[in-house]
Amino acid sequence: MAKYKSKYACQECGYESPKWMGKCPGCHSWNTLVEEITTKSSHFRHESGNGGRQGALPLAQIASEEEPRFDTTMGELNRVLGGGLVPGSLVLVGGDPGIGKSTLLLQSSFALARQGYKILYVSGEESVKQIKLRADRLGPDTPPLFVVAENDLELIEQHINQVEPQVVIIDSIQTVFHPQIQSAAGSVAQVRETTAHLMRIAKGKGIATFIVGHVTKEGAIAGPRMLEHMVDAVLYFEGERHNTFRILRAVKNRFGSTNEIGIFEMKERGLEEVSNPSEIFLAERPVGVAGSTVVASMEGTRPVLVELQALVSPTSFVTPRRMATGVDHQRVAMIMAVLEKRIGLMLQNQDAYVNVAGGVRLDEPAVDLAIAVSIASSFRDQPTSPHDVVIGEVGLTGEVRGVSRIDQRIREALKLGFKRVIIPEKNIRGLEVPPGIEVIGVRTIAEALHEVLRG
Ligand code: TYD
Ligand code: MG
Repeated sequence: MAKYKSKYACQECGYESPKWMGKCPGCHSWNTLVEEITTKSSHFRHESGNGGRQGALPLAQIASEEEPRFDTTMGELNRVLGGGLVPGSLVLVGGDPGIGKSTLLLQSSFALARQGYKILYVSGEESVKQIKLRADRLGPDTPPLFVVAENDLELIEQHINQVEPQVVIIDSIQTVFHPQIQSAAGSVAQVRETTAHLMRIAKGKGIATFIVGHVTKEGAIAGPRMLEHMVDAVLYFEGERHNTFRILRAVKNRFGSTNEIGIFEMKERGLEEVSNPSEIFLAERPVGVAGSTVVASMEGTRPVLVELQALVSPTSFVTPRRMATGVDHQRVAMIMAVLEKRIGLMLQNQDAYVNVAGGVRLDEPAVDLAIAVSIASSFRDQPTSPHDVVIGEVGLTGEVRGVSRIDQRIREALKLGFKRVIIPEKNIRGLEVPPGIEVIGVRTIAEALHEVLRG
């Protein structure tokens, strides 16, 4: 192992000092000096493990074949990773404590081990007994998997050298410490140095490495923001505690799209993949009530039908309450303003709650029209038809604007047995409507409301 020397550096101005000081002599700010270590090889290189340096090459001479990826056999995880796990990649998996990160990674370790890959699962949080207990919960046959309960990075490196795994799981980065750094495990200095060290091992040996990171209350992974810049992919595992659905979302991915999501359900015996999300999200949908609309939203390359609910009721507050879960509340405020101004709905003395059923988050403007319909439906107390799907972006003049991938959305609606799809008029041109479903084009919110609210 390389020789380490400790130093302290200011996070504000970069001032360096051999000892810790409360106040930085460089920029006079307080408590900004953080311990760092310097090694001869402290700058890791972005190459995938082929060792020595080469001269610069003409781009055309560089072979573009992709390295084969590990198939985790979990379709939902493969999709979020961009089509499987890339050898030598460093993947950060973040999420609230208790959401199921350890379960997800233990299950994918099993899936990989069953295919003959060598996996080393390093736990700094639980004893090997506890890991075994969780493993027993996941199934009777335990695949060949190496586990070790260890926090010391140097010893972890020894285990890696001994086992020579293709995949390493570090659960979690906040519990691992570098023995050459004095500060406590989980501190900025520790998280940064241990990650950098794991990065060098991963790239040097071509080991795919998963790092678990707990999320702080602010939603950022504890430790420096820099952690996210260092790794190749950042996946968040999210979901609400009272809900069994879990969504794996890529917020950064050097090897794939960040639009993809993976959907799982936490069951008694581990996580189950949800490959037909629309059916599940619509399972508890009330039929024939006011304030509920179904929308077809694209989640990455996959259309998903989701129920959008709104409740609008007279306020007893000076300022009416506006709450949105699963959609952007600014967007909801904008749509409510459009409904007031263009449709004449008196919403300013109404509380409004908008919710996406199933705990999904919808980020695209194509769900605007469904939000508008749900709000108007609840306000007027007129139910929507259970056979309709509503798709469209809403503009400030109340116009309904075109959306992407309309045929995929329509086909998903047809597959789930819906009878009508309300879409932007702009999307009608050139559209091949599959038999079995009626497609109605609308130009404005007013036209859409006329179509879907007839009660
Ligand atoms: P865990 O993977 O330990 O979460 P994290 O590593 O993110 O802190 O999962 C914790 C929760 O999942 C715990 O409340 C128990 C539940 N669980 C199940 O419901 N079914 C299972 O098969 C397993 C293993 C856990
Ligand atoms: Mg855990």
